[in-house]
Amino acid sequence: MSYPPSERLLREQFGPGGTPLLSQAPGRINLIGEHTDYNGGYVLPFAIDRVTEIAVRPRADRRIRIYADAFRAGVELELPIEGIAPAGGWQDYPIGILAELSHYKDLEFGFDGAISGDVPQGAGLSSSAALEVAAAIAFSRLYEVNLSGLELVRLCQRVENEFVGTRCGIMDQYVSYFGRTGAAILLNTHTMEHRYVPLHLSGVSLLAVDSRVNRSLGTSGYNARRQECEQALTLVRSAFPRRKIASLSDLTIGDLDRISAVLSPSIFARVRHVVSENARVLAAVEALEQDDYRRLGKLLFASHASLRDLFEVSTPELDFLVDWGREHGALGARLVGGGFGGVVLHLVPDEIKQGYIDGIVAAYRARFRIDPEVIEVRPGPGAEELNRA
Ligand code: GLA
Repeated sequence: MSYPPSERLLREQFGPGGTPLLSQAPGRINLIGEHTDYNGGYVLPFAIDRVTEIAVRPRADRRIRIYADAFRAGVELELPIEGIAPAGGWQDYPIGILAELSHYKDLEFGFDGAISGDVPQGAGLSSSAALEVAAAIAFSRLYEVNLSGLELVRLCQRVENEFVGTRCGIMDQYVSYFGRTGAAILLNTHTMEHRYVPLHLSGVSLLAVDSRVNRSLGTSGYNARRQECEQALTLVRSAFPRRKIASLSDLTIGDLDRISAVLSPSIFARVRHVVSENARVLAAVEALEQDDYRRLGKLLFASHASLRDLFEVSTPELDFLVDWGREHGALGARLVGGGFGGVVLHLVPDEIKQGYIDGIVAAYRARFRIDPEVIEVRPGPGAEELNRA
């Protein structure tokens, strides 16, 4: 997909001017490790080869104007940023970043900015994390706020948690920033240590099939699951007061029998998902290290079953896409991200790829009267400033 370079968009929208600061940040897909990142567990995402790009140019006054190509819309405001309330749209991300930066430094001048890119919006490929990270890189440079990579990632997460109101974990922002071409990232969200796991994809492809299910319920469902996990942690801690349990990820499969007695069936199911999903992430790393895509595929199917039956974040549309995959030669498939809509990731042998894409589009259209978008995803680079002197 092609998109107008943000620098050109900036000139088109706001007229000629000096050389802008440019940054870009990718969307992400998660191979495996879902709903583990806010439970101190493991995730294995990669940055995709689709980015959000932003160009910014300072102004002499205190006005801020930002135009977003994907929404064909702009926002204008006047500093100071304090007291500006979220509006419920894309503009909350850049404005939230500015609000966070204003805690480090007085924002004394305004700017013009333009955003473009090819991360599909609202599909579950973390277009919001890409926007936050790209904006945080450009704005922190513009206002000369020095942040380490991890500080910047955490700042972006705070924007989601506190300004936008999604209680997301750290995975999306982290991988958008630290992603690397040709590799997935194994991140331990308890220690915040990561290592790169090469993703060769020899003879196989990864297809993200966008269900195009409206995810408006996603945020409330997501926040509810998070709360259930917190509740489970409190109950488990009080049942085992002598054990130090920092998060649900400190529990092992062997602990499950004993804790089932202190939790309601549905809360226990949430814990079983988290504990088994962590084990699947580590098994997936082993599979990748051996280029064993059959084994990886089985783990993807198992992850989906767990998200569907234990964590209960799937939908009939997502289940249909996974089941279709199983019946038509996929090595593995599963919903990606928070659930309640978004994309299903399919691991498919190259030799069946084209027929598979045509077939799944036709079958989904016939069943739900929705045209799904199919995007092939490959591990691309993490975020960067594009014209650093
Ligand atoms: C969303 C959140 C992530 C993570 C996933 C579920 O993508 O933004 O932090 O919790 O859901 O794994």
